[in-house]
Amino acid sequence: MTHDAHLFVVFGGTGDLARRKLLPALFTLLAEPGCRLLGVAGAEMDTDEYRVWVAGALMDAGVEESAAKRWAHERVWYRSVPRHSELDAVAEQVARIESDGATRGNRVLYLALPPAAFGPTIERIGRAGLARGAGWCRLVVEKPFGTDLESAQTLNETIHDHFEEEQVYRIDHYLGKETVQNLLVFRFANPLFESSWNRDRVQRVEITVAEELDASERGEYYDRTGVIGDMVQSHLAQLLTLVAMEAPSTFAADAVRDEKVKVLRSIRHIPAGAVVLGQYGAGTGATAHTPGYRAHEGVASDSPTPTYAAIKVWIDNWRWQGVPFLLRTGKAMARHLTEIAVVFRSPPVCLFHSVVDDCLGAGDVLRLVLQPDEGFSLHIDVKRPGSATSAQRIALSFSYAEEFGRIPEAYETLLADVVEGDQTLFVRHDEVEESWRLFAPLSHQDMPLHGYQAGSWGPSAADALIDSGPKGWFAEH
Ligand code: BG6
Repeated sequence: MTHDAHLFVVFGGTGDLARRKLLPALFTLLAEPGCRLLGVAGAEMDTDEYRVWVAGALMDAGVEESAAKRWAHERVWYRSVPRHSELDAVAEQVARIESDGATRGNRVLYLALPPAAFGPTIERIGRAGLARGAGWCRLVVEKPFGTDLESAQTLNETIHDHFEEEQVYRIDHYLGKETVQNLLVFRFANPLFESSWNRDRVQRVEITVAEELDASERGEYYDRTGVIGDMVQSHLAQLLTLVAMEAPSTFAADAVRDEKVKVLRSIRHIPAGAVVLGQYGAGTGATAHTPGYRAHEGVASDSPTPTYAAIKVWIDNWRWQGVPFLLRTGKAMARHLTEIAVVFRSPPVCLFHSVVDDCLGAGDVLRLVLQPDEGFSLHIDVKRPGSATSAQRIALSFSYAEEFGRIPEAYETLLADVVEGDQTLFVRHDEVEESWRLFAPLSHQDMPLHGYQAGSWGPSAADALIDSGPKGWFAEH
């Protein structure tokens, strides 16, 4: 696919995000001669040294050596800027790179920076005149977008002082995952499911984002942010809106985002009793190598930061009134699994008995697995041969890998959309604010912090959130 010529400026061009995610995606995306990359960072080096670094990052990502070196040599520039200083030198460099007209004056400005630097950098971008070029100019901001409602509003105001909302792309990389996007296709292209997707047919919805990974690699960041800011306000809120939203009138960016915002606005205030927070302690047995959270570098030895949250959410609208949505996420858990389980109501009278004891007496269950084994399965009962009344639970399954092979990386999809000017998979200012309004108070309320063992499914107190329908969390089976 060909893309508009443009200059892609990465603020934080020598950081971990640039090295691991952005550069490998940009290597594919900036294939045409008119596409160029400018790295901006504090590290003192010149363009030649940066090109060597970029080529190394690409080779680490599996790009063949001569292709990596050629691309870095032809497409890449660098500008070192001391921290906190004005960006006039960057503006001059941008002008030089744009002077031959190859990039048509189009710009992407990507903030791959620590969150505290977003606001000040946007101010400096504005003052240096970088927010307006001869062509289009788009700003990409990473998460976390603010730390609560007030800080998100302030950041939105700073952005809107220099950019129109149509220029702004707030990244939540979950929206770039194929399987997350497939939620919309699954729901709105398959009337069989959509006609059952409501309070009449659904008993509850479970959204689980369990990570085996612990917080040791980013202790300092994590201890400031916690599970609510790191995962719930962003990724879980996005999954919830996609599962619960109404069909948009079109798939235009604002039509989709309008429907997502409506879901967030329909969520009832979340009381403390609907939330279980936890923090992992040391593992045992197979996870004995995982120390407790408070033992990580950068984490306070008496840290109150939760690494786990289970939350029961009610959506007060016509479709979902009375259906609990159970959100659950944590670090250092038993398995790496992102799954949405839609639990359908049981038949009004049970004429058969199940011979399989792990089906929990449920109605049909649809499990959409977003990672790691992308696909879905529909769990239903079939008659066991021989006996007239015994049924057995079986799964009708679909696997992405078997059907399609490789699935593109989220960043490849999202960066291509930025360059195409499609905002559908990016978070609008009001979505971010509504999500903080709902979830930020959970970090501040005085709530018990339950311990759980690294490598487990989290505190058992979370089981009590499921107080109707089949017992237990489907993700654990
Ligand atoms: C990031 C969080 O946004 O998402 C990390 O900051 C988390 O803490 C990561 O590990 C999970 O992403 P994925 O794509 O691995 O599920």
